[in-house]
Amino acid sequence: MKVLVIGSGGREHALVWKLRQSPRVTKLYCAPGNGGIATEAECLPVDVKSLDSLLALANQIQPDLTVVGPELPLTLGVVDEFSKRGWRTFGPSKAAAQLEASKSFAKEFLQRHHIPTAHYAICNSLDEVREALPHFHTPVVVKADGLAAGKGVVICKSKEEVVTVSSEMLSGKMLGEAGARVVLEEFLQGEELSFLVVSDGERVAPLVAAQDHKRVGDGDSGPNTGGMGAYSTATILDDKMRDWLVAHIAKPVVAGMKAEGTEFKGVLYCGLMMTARGPMVLEFNCRFGDPETQPILMRLESDLVEALEASVDGRVSEGDFKWSTDAAVCVVMAAGGYPGTYEAGKKILGLEEAGLLEGVKVFHAGTTAHDGAFYTAGGRVLGVTARGPDIKSAVDRAYAAAAKIGFDGAHYRKDIAHRAFKK
Ligand code: AMP
Ligand code: GLY
Repeated sequence: MKVLVIGSGGREHALVWKLRQSPRVTKLYCAPGNGGIATEAECLPVDVKSLDSLLALANQIQPDLTVVGPELPLTLGVVDEFSKRGWRTFGPSKAAAQLEASKSFAKEFLQRHHIPTAHYAICNSLDEVREALPHFHTPVVVKADGLAAGKGVVICKSKEEVVTVSSEMLSGKMLGEAGARVVLEEFLQGEELSFLVVSDGERVAPLVAAQDHKRVGDGDSGPNTGGMGAYSTATILDDKMRDWLVAHIAKPVVAGMKAEGTEFKGVLYCGLMMTARGPMVLEFNCRFGDPETQPILMRLESDLVEALEASVDGRVSEGDFKWSTDAAVCVVMAAGGYPGTYEAGKKILGLEEAGLLEGVKVFHAGTTAHDGAFYTAGGRVLGVTARGPDIKSAVDRAYAAAAKIGFDGAHYRKDIAHRAFKK
């Protein structure tokens, strides 16, 4: 079968790498892909922000299965449009993707279905922010309603700051349309967990859990990023808690979406805070996480194509995925300046040597290839990923590989998976 992956990051490289292992796949495309992905799939140029461009591409290749990486094409309705034309596509409809695209939609949905989440207020104006504030203790979390590529959440220490940040968001100065409405939220404390399930609109199959590291610097310092690393181990989530999350969060979400006429198919990514009051939903994503997908797929032992098809065809069952008990970790190597402005076009050295180390796979996130060499072409450049019998060996392998790679301005966190060591 011909499989098309849409996207160009480390997550898409991991998807391509895993899909390629399936005996069912005879031809693999990635659009637009990147320098590293091009060594494992045929990359085709496309503007993922344009439905017309995606439709023209699919018309040309007639894929038997399409997997959509990033949220934007999902929120534009790529699954609806492809499905209408008979192209089987993994992911939620435009209406169901609202769970990620609108924080206010997600919060009201959670409340309607009694799913645990932080206390909140939805505000359309600064007057509404001022009215809501007496009901909050500091710190208060201010969130832009729309998609903001990880830049839409500000934790405010004072109520004055809440007003300032809300004003910048509401005026459109900070994030444009995405900030036209804001959600104020109670600040939650605890450990964060990324809990992903694949759904067919009715049933769910859980993936192994992962934790990511959003801040740019060691010890969770500095500004937020798209994610500087992630890890997954067999002990990160015990069976009892996994079953609880399936029963009290994943299944009620899927049942609630179906009852409201917006059936949710694809990956439901639950961003959770494990608080003293129990797990609470921070956010939903309607797609695979990046970089969580890199270590998660390193641990997958069953056929990914089968599991994705089960979602499209409506025959998901809880045991669809078979996992290794190994641990896996992904260390993101970023361009100098990231998450601020950064330069591209730096030559990357040492990739081959790093890739030869035991248990290591270097996923490309932002690279191009020409004349037999790879060059940086994004903020997050590589996802150096390794698997090992325990978290310590996985971490050691990933850092040994990262140490072999170099490019001008490269930086990465040295403490990925540090929380796993404390346990
Ligand atoms: P979100 O996009 O909603 O997941 O928020 C991005 C990040 O902000 C999360 O991964 C958390 O680290 C943090 N965050 C979001 N909401 C809260 C909250 N209510 N309390 C504490 N931290 C939060
Ligand atoms: N790693 C967080 C995300 O994929 O949104």
